[in-house]
Amino acid sequence: MNLIKLLSTDFFTGQILFSGKGLLDSLWFLVRNPRKKSLRLAALTLQLIPRYTKVSVKRLINLHRLVQKANRLNLPGDIVECGVWNGGSAAMMGVADRDDEASGKARKLWLFDSFRGLPRPSNRDGKQARETYFQGWCHGETGKVERIFRRFRLSLQHVNIIPGWFDDTLGTADLQTIALLHIDADWYASVKVVLETLYDKVVEGGFVVLDDYWRWPGCREAVTDYLKEHQIQGVVLKQVDLHGVYFQKPHRCRGETVDS
Ligand SMILES: C[S@@+](CC[C@H](N)C(=O)[O-])C[C@H]1O[C@@H](n2cnc3c(N)ncnc32)[C@H](O)[C@@H]1O
Repeated sequence: MNLIKLLSTDFFTGQILFSGKGLLDSLWFLVRNPRKKSLRLAALTLQLIPRYTKVSVKRLINLHRLVQKANRLNLPGDIVECGVWNGGSAAMMGVADRDDEASGKARKLWLFDSFRGLPRPSNRDGKQARETYFQGWCHGETGKVERIFRRFRLSLQHVNIIPGWFDDTLGTADLQTIALLHIDADWYASVKVVLETLYDKVVEGGFVVLDDYWRWPGCREAVTDYLKEHQIQGVVLKQVDLHGVYFQKPHRCRGETVDS
């Protein structure tokens, strides 16, 4: 068994290590942000890691912040996540919306995942991805998604969990506009199909979050190719941590971001 596999939270060893890292990251976040709100955020992340999420503390807190920022900016649209696994990052966004005084009414959440694990990576995803891949990697369960939503007392009324491969599901969902698009799907083909199908639905000034931008080369290449092929200018990537980035969709005609 190779090291990356051993470190994956699909296995016990990875779960132990990720729990320890989560604890240290939450403590560090509290030290740097000694506020009552930070305590609540840190407590939320610790309930999600490692059972319900593979997303780091910094990236979870960033998702929380962006949902509330979308509310403050009065952006119309739903929250969409492509790559859900056991629902941790989705629940974090749900809590952010529910707890936000600036939120008018609850945004709809659309959660897309195969719930059968990652598809096989292609040449574009690099040697490490191809050598590490195993069947059932990141195999999430809809039952666990529902469980964490119930534990956080989030109503499932506004949540659409859509199981299936993105190629089959994204284009058929009755989804109009998107305020925040969280793409956490690792590979070139998966990230590209999300952008091809959903980017146009993101409102100007809306947020696109890429969990794996600096983690997997295929994710990076899919974003670069998409922006180039569609001649999209004015995208300013913001770093969240070692792996994650996000950007605000620029104005179509002006090619600039709405608010930084
Ligand atoms: C890293 S996990 C997502 C982690 C999750 N956001 C969390 O909070 O831990 C990546 C997910 O993307 C899904 N996925 C990747 N490519 C897909 C595709 N083409 N169609 C459907 N699901 C896909 C996998 O099933 C997997 O659950």
